[in-house]
Parts: sequence; C-alpha cells; structure tokens
Amino acid sequence: MCGIIGCVGRDAETLDVLLSGLDSLEYRGYDSAGVALANGSVAVEKREGELGHLKNAVAAGGDTSDLRGPAGIGHTRWSTHGPPSDENAHPHTDCAGEVAVVHNGIIENYDELKADLLDAGHEFDSDTDSEVVPHLVEDALADGATPEEAFRAAVARLEGSYALAAVFGDSEAILATREGSPLVLGVADNAAYLASDVPAFLEYTDRVVYLDDGEFARLESGSWTVTDREGRLLEKSVSRVEWDAEQTAKSGYDHYMLKEIHEQPQALRKCLRGRVDELTGTVDVDALAGLAAESVQFVACGTSYHAALFGAQSLREAGVPAQAFLASEYATSPPPVSDGTLVVGITQSGETADTLSALREAKNRGVETLAMTNVVGSTASRECDRTLFIRAGPEIGVAATKTFSSQVVACNLLSASLAEQGDARDVVEALRDLPGQVQEILDSSRAEQVAERFVYSEGYFFIGRGHHHPVALEGALKMKEITYEHAEGFPAGELKHGPLALVTSETPVFAVVTGRGEKATKTIGNVKEVEARDAPVVAVTDGVSEVERYADAVLEIPETHPRVAPVLANVQLQLVAYFVAKQLGRSIDKPRNLAKSVTVE
Ligand code: M6R
Repeated sequence: MCGIIGCVGRDAETLDVLLSGLDSLEYRGYDSAGVALANGSVAVEKREGELGHLKNAVAAGGDTSDLRGPAGIGHTRWSTHGPPSDENAHPHTDCAGEVAVVHNGIIENYDELKADLLDAGHEFDSDTDSEVVPHLVEDALADGATPEEAFRAAVARLEGSYALAAVFGDSEAILATREGSPLVLGVADNAAYLASDVPAFLEYTDRVVYLDDGEFARLESGSWTVTDREGRLLEKSVSRVEWDAEQTAKSGYDHYMLKEIHEQPQALRKCLRGRVDELTGTVDVDALAGLAAESVQFVACGTSYHAALFGAQSLREAGVPAQAFLASEYATSPPPVSDGTLVVGITQSGETADTLSALREAKNRGVETLAMTNVVGSTASRECDRTLFIRAGPEIGVAATKTFSSQVVACNLLSASLAEQGDARDVVEALRDLPGQVQEILDSSRAEQVAERFVYSEGYFFIGRGHHHPVALEGALKMKEITYEHAEGFPAGELKHGPLALVTSETPVFAVVTGRGEKATKTIGNVKEVEARDAPVVAVTDGVSEVERYADAVLEIPETHPRVAPVLANVQLQLVAYFVAKQLGRSIDKPRNLAKSVTVE
C-alpha cells in the first residue's frame, strides 16, 4: 500500500535520497508517485504509473529544477479515492502552494471537511481524501498559527487512519504524525528520515524510533523530537534494526521472490535458533514463557491465514482447542472467548489492517493476544501482550514465501509449548533437519520443467488433506497472485463435491501426499478421480505412499514428520508458481493490483 519517505539534513542529496527511498518502497504496491522539497517555497513533482515516469519528469527539470532543499517528502500511492492520475498522486498542496502533504490511510470524514473547505473558497486539484489536509493547514496558517500549530490543528479535525508528513515553504522541518498507519523515524548524526517501512532509509541509518498512534514528530537537520497530542515532549527509545541494506537487495537473483525462496534454509535456522533443545527434545521460547492458554483463536489474512489453518490444526492435535479465522470476518460474528482464550494474530508485516482490527476486537473483549510477526516494531508487535517473532528477515516480494515457512515453524513451536503432553521430541528432531531438507529441494527441484510443461494450462488445482490442506490453498494463492491464471486449492475430499466439474485434460491437479495411512490413501483415491477425467496429475510427495504411480509428473520432497512436511511441499509449489509466472513474463515481485502491506480494511 502507499509508502512514505521523508528526509532532512542531506542538503543537495535530498532528492536522490527520496527517489531511492521510493525505489525501496515499491514492493508495497503503488500506481503513482511524487516528491516535494521545501526551499523557501514548495516544489512538487508527481506522476501516474511507475517510478520511472516520476524519475523522467524529475530529470527533465535538469539543473534548473527547483526540486532542491534541505527537507523533502515522497510518496508512492495505491489508489483508494480517485483513479491513478498525476493529479491524484501525492504530495498534495494547499491553494497557495505553501505546504505539501503526503498521506497513507483513509480520512473518513473528508467529504464533510471538503465541503466546508470548498464553501470557504478553497480549490481542489484531486479526487483524493488526502487533499483536505493541506487546505486545513492553510486555513490555520491564515489564522496566524505557526506551521506546527497549523499541522496539529488540521490533524485534530481528521477522523480515520493516517500516517501524514508535511513540508512547508518557509521551514526546514518535516512534521509528521500517525494514527493507525505505520510510520518510523530513522535517525543519524546530521540527518533524519521517516518512512512507512525501514528499508526505505536502511542504507543511511539502522537507528530507528517507532512512532505510536497519536504522536507527532518534528525532524530537522541534526535533531528530532516526538511529542504527544498536547505537545508534551516524549522520551522515545532509539532501537537498532538487525536487517541490513544487503538483505533488502536482489543480490544477483532475477527477482526478490526467487531470492526469498532460496533464503528459506537460513530463515528457518534463525527462527529455530535458541528456541529448541535438540538433546532434550524440548521447546523453550522466551515470548511464550508461562503461557497456558486453554483455547486458541488465530486471526490472519492471505498466506498468513493459511499458516493459521496449519497452526490451529497442530494445536488441536496437541490437545488444545483451536480455530483459525479470516481476520476480516472475525469481528462480524466474534466467537465465544473465556479467560483462558489466547488470540494469535499471524501477520508478516504486523501492519495488516484487518488483522490489527481483529486483534483489537480481541483486546476489547479482555483476552490475551499474541502477535506472530516478522517485523520488529510493527503495530501488531507493539499492541499485543506478547510477540513471537518469526525472524525470516526482510521480505520484499509481494508474494509471501519464506515468511509462510517460518510461520509454520513458529506455529509448531507454539503448539509444542502449549501441548499438554509432548510429542515435541519428534517434531524438534524434524525441525532440526528442516533447513537442510529445504536446501535439498532447492538444489534438485524439477519445478522449472513442470512449469514448462503446464504453463499454458486453462487453470490449476491443488489438493491436500489434513496439514496439506493449507498447502493446497497456499499453492493456489501463489499461482494466481503472480501468474494471473485461475487457480484453486481444496481439501482433497471436497473436490468431488463440486470443483470436479471444472477438471479437464487442460487443468493440471497438484496433489500433495506424504507419509502413509488413511489420509494418504484417501488422497490417492481423489487423485484417481481426477485421473479418470483425463486431468494431468502432479504429485508432490515423499514417495512413501507411491502416489507417483498415478501421476504424470512428480515433485519430490524428503521424508519427515507430518507437521513439518507442509513446509517442504510448499517450497516445491512456490517454485512452480515462480517459473510459470516467469515464463508468462509476469511482474513477479509486484503483481498487478496487489500490495505487500494492506493497511486499509
Ligand atoms: O503481512 P500479512 O502477513 O498480514 O499479510 C497478509 C496478506 O495480505 C498476505 O499474506 C498476502 O496474501 C500475500 N500477498 C500472499 O502472498
């Protein structure tokens, strides 16, 4: 979703810092971009479409451009109010061009504010909700307020969610605030930065200050302050982020997605480090110390929801009643809770609005909350009672890959911690071998050949039972999101209750079957059903059940514990989706219409 970058104290480099910050924010998803620099007056450049359009426009200004000055803000917009266009791109200015503002989120009362401002003679250039902000600031300035007073007065009139940053023609400061949308400060000796996400300024500083809702930041060359709504100075701690700029680069891979798929062995090792004792077969996670939930409700969206389905199932197997809910549905019909209920929000970004809203609903009902997230300092981690970090490292590709694997492992840690009596030793042993087994798959996968064979299919189906049901859903989500081809995932047993009508010789069915026993046997029965309809079958298997006898192609995975096998099977499906998308020439890291971090409900 929209991305904000701001920088003060870099003088002649301000514009370059902003453009490079916007590059780093591209992964969040956007359809227009712009910058504003303050230098006596405010100079703005903004363009619909890719960042390249903005960069060309900036370059066309050449040496005579007035896009210079010590303070500047930039923005990538993901349309909500009004289509992508130059006019709707941010920054937005007031009538006099004295203040420029960038905004993430939604201003819910903008209609009425805009009507008042129009009545008062203001002229609007865009269809956006955001443009009311600079005009509100302008009104307050006209009444004699200082820039900071005017900014606060404007913000006081807003309802909704926002991260806002503003520059003023006659000031060298950037003013910013947040309410329900992420904003983090980066601080260095002679410069200060702000952004929606750390990678935007990680090249310049790893020292960060996380803003909380209702706080205001003032950034100047060499100094920064954070105050509350009443203007009282707050003591904020400066944290060091562990990610480095190299981790957010493509490092020779064609796409971030492929790099992140290949980072999985390392990500999984980090997720496990210091949390499992291989000798005793026990799990010891600081974040879960003393936790004794009687029941667990997971809330999550997209890929994280698939991890939640896995988590709920593995907890039930460990004797703990557990359910997974789509976060966007949780509040519409909230399930009963008791004193011993734990609500777990699984969210890579820690900023997904639907998940945050479900977690807040849970908090309002007085139950304990746990964030399972990848991002230190994220809203979910700050609002929940506990946080279990999955430690996957930065994920830039819009398609979640390594974070799903780490979420599944973290769910295993959670269920081993909460299990009444443990079979944790088996799982711990399997987890120890998991990073090496993922590496084996990466080194030997035939996913590219399978992708070549089926790339022009009419659609793709994915089936799996038990722990492989979430894998089937995730395989389909990955396929549809980056290839733009139709793909559906089902619990294997459901296929014959309707979807089978869509199965033809042009629709390959990926069947995930591992181990032996009833689940495998029944899934093989489902494989035979699709085979009888001439559909090509791709078996993702450890070979134990011999499902490959009925398959047209096989993607092998090593044998492991049933609660660990989903990670291995999913790696093969990630690779198939990647190679199909690559052969179709799709925009793999930034699929159309999608955003990495979905900060509106
Ligand atoms: O950051 P979150 O894990 O909360 O994000 C949830 C979904 O938006 C996300 O998983 C989405 O489905 C991905 N694009 C899937 O690849």
